[in-house]
Amino acid sequence: MSHDDFPTDEPAVVTCGLPYANGDLHIGHLRGYIGADAFNRALQTLGQQSAYVCGSDMHGTPVAVNAEKEGVDPEEFALRWHEQYEETFPQFAVEFDNYGHTHDETNTETTREIVRTLDEEGYVYEKEIQVAYDPEADQYLPDRYVVGTCPYCGAKARGDECDEGCQRHLEPGEIENPQSSITGNPAEYRERTHKFFRVSEFADYLTEFLDDLEGTSNARNQPRQWIEEGLQDWCITRDMDWGIDYPNGEDDLVLYVWVDAPIEYISSTKQYTDRVGTDEYDWEDVWHEDGEVVHFIGRDIIQHHTIFWPAMLEGADYNAPRGIAATGFITIDGKGLSTSRNRAIWAREYLEEGFHPDLLRYYLMTTGGLQQDVDFSWSAFQEKVNGELVGTIGNFCYRSLLFAQRNYEGTPETDVSADVEERIEGAIGEVREAVNDYSLRGVGQAATRLAQFGNEYIQRNEPWKLTDDSPDEAAQVIRDCVQIAKAVGVLIEPIAPGKAQTLWEQLGEDGDVADAHLEDALEAPPRTFDEPDELFEKIEDERVEELEAKLEERIAEATGDAGAEETENDDTGSDEEKDMAETDDLEPLLEDRISFEEFQDLDIRVGRIEDAEGIEGADDLARLEVDIGFETRQVVAGIKQLHDLDELPGTKVVLLANMEPAELFGVESNGMILAAGEEADLLTTHGDADLGEKVR
Ligand code: MF3
Ligand code: ZN
Repeated sequence: MSHDDFPTDEPAVVTCGLPYANGDLHIGHLRGYIGADAFNRALQTLGQQSAYVCGSDMHGTPVAVNAEKEGVDPEEFALRWHEQYEETFPQFAVEFDNYGHTHDETNTETTREIVRTLDEEGYVYEKEIQVAYDPEADQYLPDRYVVGTCPYCGAKARGDECDEGCQRHLEPGEIENPQSSITGNPAEYRERTHKFFRVSEFADYLTEFLDDLEGTSNARNQPRQWIEEGLQDWCITRDMDWGIDYPNGEDDLVLYVWVDAPIEYISSTKQYTDRVGTDEYDWEDVWHEDGEVVHFIGRDIIQHHTIFWPAMLEGADYNAPRGIAATGFITIDGKGLSTSRNRAIWAREYLEEGFHPDLLRYYLMTTGGLQQDVDFSWSAFQEKVNGELVGTIGNFCYRSLLFAQRNYEGTPETDVSADVEERIEGAIGEVREAVNDYSLRGVGQAATRLAQFGNEYIQRNEPWKLTDDSPDEAAQVIRDCVQIAKAVGVLIEPIAPGKAQTLWEQLGEDGDVADAHLEDALEAPPRTFDEPDELFEKIEDERVEELEAKLEERIAEATGDAGAEETENDDTGSDEEKDMAETDDLEPLLEDRISFEEFQDLDIRVGRIEDAEGIEGADDLARLEVDIGFETRQVVAGIKQLHDLDELPGTKVVLLANMEPAELFGVESNGMILAAGEEADLLTTHGDADLGEKVR
């Protein structure tokens, strides 16, 4: 069975791999989220009913380990990141129809229901296995709590994934030379009873499923090989308390994070239906009937999406995905992106530099095919922006619309010539084909090539020479160009939605270009419009030099220069920090000097702690009252474990008074006390400085 081309009569859902709620978003994450967003927009441009859903991945050791490092409760920790993600995505025009999280009620319920069904259908059994245990830390060591060697390829691996080597999923007990990532001690093994899902029974089903699967070829080829080698059953429980409890399970077992995480795809779709009503979008059509499910994922999680997930769906009687697009990694200046080495372009940093999100969207979508690794460098970014966006699209649209506005107050009153109409139809066809091939680069290129054609067309016909002697001919050329510009706007919208909307408005169009369909590219724009502005701005060489220098410095700071040559593939959102046994080396000195004026911006004062108490629910945090002469400040500090709070009142401290207020565990923090080192050695004064004196 093969699938009908998009657009089909059934609703679609597009998803992307859920980000672990455990750290800052970077360009590696963005590639996937922008890709899926662009694909969803492109489907809609084709006239396909489609929704884009996702959510934060709250459970598992990726969250638990990082929360523990901060001494924060995993739920609080994950929710904090979840909220940050919710705010960040729209800033890149990544517009989810629903963004939930795996710890919410919908997902907890859906997960329980699915696991119960699998259990009832006989797909789950219990087995005694050896699990890693750290006697010193007195805890079991699931997944990221243990590190060692991959039994398949010999690379350094985490308990459940060969993240630096063959990318395979590892079952509990499989990793060789297991070591606790908490203490570094060799792990011991203890016998425990766990639940297993009979994945091996699905081998034939999965083979057929892969034959029908659309998307990138890596998502079909790798799993075929795994099936050939023989599928193992899958351990779906863990000895942890953070997660979703095994339904009716007796003891402290939670579901493995990879069970409840993909189920969020369904839960998030349900939540969308709950919000808009079944008449507008019915999640059951998608997940229980013949709807179209399309997953965008990083290539490191192919096994979870092409083996475990479709087996679960089949076992619990849900619809299988139609397409899986597995994207390659991002490298930075030719080296592996590494969050721990700070070799990354952070989402927030990009925005703070003031670049429009569409520039990055365009760069990421058109630089390589989905499967390819894409290198990012500021100079390649500049080249793309200045060449294709400024030079081709921006230049063509601006000169056409400006000429049209100045000479005709807008769109000349004549029909588009047959040739140009045909050229636009050709571009529409390219987009339709590109979407059906899951090629976002193809979508972007169709638009850029059309603008390129427009530039050549205007250059060849020189309308500026025709206005006096052949006004009809001049009007025809400009009429054609205005139509091409409109078509470029409609076609580029999935990739560059913000700029496409600006162009749309420049053309005097009402409403949203996002609601336009491909055919609208051939409809005449309004008769009149205002004088346009340039769509894109050139990036100057000096700017690029600055950005490159900043990045280099940042990497040098994080790595102390040593090890800066090593690479790691932790760029897909599948997460960071390999080496959890932190060294207590000193942080290198910053090279970046600041001016005296900048120092003066810090309002540092002498204070005295009047009161100190632990904050309930927070492992590390204490609430302090600090008298700073003028007033008494409430401050939250991460010193609960490091100081005897009863001893603190009366201690003189140094406080950054103009720190932005923040809320931690519902307690407002209005200032920051200064401390040094791992043990939070509190800074103080040794003479007679009064409370409120400024530190200078
Ligand atoms: N959080 C996982 C990762 O970053 C991805 C989860 S995708 C889902 O690798 F399918 F489980 F939802
Ligand atoms: Zn491996």
